[in-house]
Amino acid sequence: MKMSLFDSLYTQAQQLDERDALASIRELFALPEDLIYLDGNSLGPVTYAARHRAIEVVVNQWQSDLIKSWNQHNWIGLPQQVGAKIAPLIGAAPAEVIACDSISVNLYKLLHVALAIQHASSPSRYKIITQIDNFPTDGYIAQGVVTHHREQHELVYVDETDILDALDEDVAVLMLTHVNYKTGFMLDMAEITSKAHAHGILVIWDLAHTTGVIPIDCHAWGVDFAVGCGYKYLNGGPGAPAFVYAAQRHHAQLAQPLSGWMGHALPFAFEQDYRAGEGMQSFLCGTPSVISMSVLDASLNVFAHVDMQDVRYKSVQLTQFCLLCMEASELLNELPCISPLDGQNRGSQLAFTHSQSYAISQALIAKGIVADFRAPNVLRLGFAPLYVRYQDIVTSISTLATIMNEHIYLEETYQVRQTVT
Ligand SMILES: Cc1ncc(COP(=O)(O)O)c(C=O)c1O
Repeated sequence: MKMSLFDSLYTQAQQLDERDALASIRELFALPEDLIYLDGNSLGPVTYAARHRAIEVVVNQWQSDLIKSWNQHNWIGLPQQVGAKIAPLIGAAPAEVIACDSISVNLYKLLHVALAIQHASSPSRYKIITQIDNFPTDGYIAQGVVTHHREQHELVYVDETDILDALDEDVAVLMLTHVNYKTGFMLDMAEITSKAHAHGILVIWDLAHTTGVIPIDCHAWGVDFAVGCGYKYLNGGPGAPAFVYAAQRHHAQLAQPLSGWMGHALPFAFEQDYRAGEGMQSFLCGTPSVISMSVLDASLNVFAHVDMQDVRYKSVQLTQFCLLCMEASELLNELPCISPLDGQNRGSQLAFTHSQSYAISQALIAKGIVADFRAPNVLRLGFAPLYVRYQDIVTSISTLATIMNEHIYLEETYQVRQTVT
């Protein structure tokens, strides 16, 4: 009975794959055979372009041209070059985005920038608002800023469904993640930004689960500041540099505290005193990680071949199709979905809960389906539209059904918790 169900879903999936406008993009990725990768929301896979560039930067640049490469291969300009490639994905101008450091470090810089701007015009504003269940690093960074530099400020955690009600004239900065890392719940970025502005609040968006999979428009929506990462849907590799966006209108007031030499107006003048560089350059701090930055630069070339509207369309369809398979196989009864059921309100992932979610994720991985686990009880499946096929979903869910029906996850080997989950 179940077998014929998955057979018919597989036939449906094959038809959807044949009509997929992005089908050919999968060929740009060097995906391991016999493996279904549903974890691109954590670490994107390698593209052939990135692999080629990694060898080129090490062998043809570093090995052959050594230090001359800073000029000869424009290593020094990589943060701006990579930023300019990310800009169209978020509706920004090239000069509004720069690649550097990690999301955590960039949030630290942006919080200082935004609080300083607010302090200059409305010093009585004392609240920094973020969402309960935000990715922990965002809250940790804000806690650090308040503890060490801004004791007069207060960090307030608000449920993500109550954000609009929390906006008032006491709020200096709203710092939100657009797509929740665990549930995939997506906030209305345009509406929240506009309502926050009506109260004189500056907004910082974390686009970790947005960039490269959800088209957004920083210009049209009046977004002040944003950060995002290079290693998820941008496929820039483990620890790839993150990026910062700051709207042009704020460029005269970008006073970030990590005043390292690369952010100086003239790094190679070696002046005694710090003078911030113009615009986004001032977000740089130390020497960029050239190998990582080069690989991210090459990975981004994939986006020259895709229309982000097609990416979003397929993302919603993939998650919907997965829910259909889960429902048809009655798996949703055992693994309830905590992601929004309306595709318009969710990112490119689905979260299911079960007391044995960790063991289930390990059993899936052992069978060639890479998913992940987020404490305390979430099984997370990510659907990167550039390389995940509809047929992969049927194979994954039928494997999941076997794992659940035969209680395979109870085997001892799947119970051992590893450091990275
Ligand atoms: C929403 C969000 N913000 C931040 C991070 C981590 O940022 P980083 O390690 O680049 O500082 C993650 C990692 O998954 C994330 O999901």
